Amino acid sequence: MLSRDEKYMRMCFALAKKGFGRVAPNPMVGCVVLDKDGNLISKGYHKKYGENHAERDALLKLKNNEAEGGTLYVNLEPCSHFGKTPPCVDLIIEHKLKRVVIGMKDVNPKVNGITKLKNAGIEVDYVLEEEAEFLNRMFIKTMTKKMPYVVLKTASTMDGKIASKTGSSKWITSDAARKEVYSMRKKFDCIMTSSNTVIADNPSMEHKFKCVLDNDLRTSKDAKIYQQGEIYIASKENTPLKNNQLDIEAVLKNLYSKGIYSVFVECGGTLAGSMLKDNLIDEVYQFIAPKILNDNNGLSCFNGADIEEISQAKNLKIYELKQIEKDILIKAIVL
Ligand SMILES: NC(=O)c1ccc[n+]([C@@H]2O[C@H](COP(=O)([O-])OP(=O)(O)OC[C@H]3O[C@@H](n4cnc5c(N)ncnc54)[C@H](OP(=O)(O)O)[C@@H]3O)[C@@H](O)[C@H]2O)c1
Repeated sequence: MLSRDEKYMRMCFALAKKGFGRVAPNPMVGCVVLDKDGNLISKGYHKKYGENHAERDALLKLKNNEAEGGTLYVNLEPCSHFGKTPPCVDLIIEHKLKRVVIGMKDVNPKVNGITKLKNAGIEVDYVLEEEAEFLNRMFIKTMTKKMPYVVLKTASTMDGKIASKTGSSKWITSDAARKEVYSMRKKFDCIMTSSNTVIADNPSMEHKFKCVLDNDLRTSKDAKIYQQGEIYIASKENTPLKNNQLDIEAVLKNLYSKGIYSVFVECGGTLAGSMLKDNLIDEVYQFIAPKILNDNNGLSCFNGADIEEISQAKNLKIYELKQIEKDILIKAIVL
């Protein structure tokens, strides 16, 4: 059975997730406040970058003494510094909470909320730390590595093919799965694709920011992808090379410096394989259609390395499995 602390921390996670796609580079944070008798009296979450943090959102809904002696649940250590908003720790102290239950410590070195809370005589406990870190994996990576979080999406047959040997690929998955992709794209700061995919499929990939990897500027400016949104073309004119190909790590660092904190990659097996080999993919979203191409010459989702032993395969951890009409979607972390 869930303990009371676990129950309210899970509530914080659910609230936090409402901010997915809108709060970066900040973390997703939810907050729940109980009064001294254990009654739930307020909830809040961080809705958008620059707006109130979750604790402030929850506490400002209360009268000054309502939370006195109560417990505040929050999935991330409360901030103690002035950023876009004043420190949440000060507001927690002002509201005279007795206990604060935290999911994870903040990896931002500017934050020292726990010490400040303890110095004010507030009890601090932790619960579901691993789950809290998993929830904010994007924030942890961008804050500690100064690189965007990278999710690669691919859609394949059951034998792992994304196109026939002639490049025919429309359509492997159903309309419903493709609609799911449209809404996924909105959660990311940037879509990244390749010259080959633009030339083969001429996709529009509607988004506010798109990055096309095009070493020799082979794509036509009339391609649909260039008709909308901000475009960054990485070519050998503006990007260092690695093994005669664009250095994707350099491209990602460059995107980070432009304020891009998450990248959704949609490409064929050559680029996907090369990025996987270089450990540049954090997660894979793989749609699988109930089809078998049954041709070794068809294009594979990942086609990057000359592997002899199965022990050399990349390992992933599946964290979500969903059926979308006839297709399935697997979401997995690259280990
Ligand atoms: N089912 C799906 O989910 C899906 C999604 C997208 C595409 N596709 C299919 O995939 C096919 C294209 O696949 P593909 O394997 O030929 O191409 P790809 O993987 O999309 O792109 C490979 C190209 O990316 C560029 N690139 C730049 N830097 C690179 C690096 N470091 N490593 C590797 N590539 C780099 C290179 O072109 P330059 O030298 O010109 O830069 C390279 O030829 C199309 O038929 C398309 O329909 C399927």
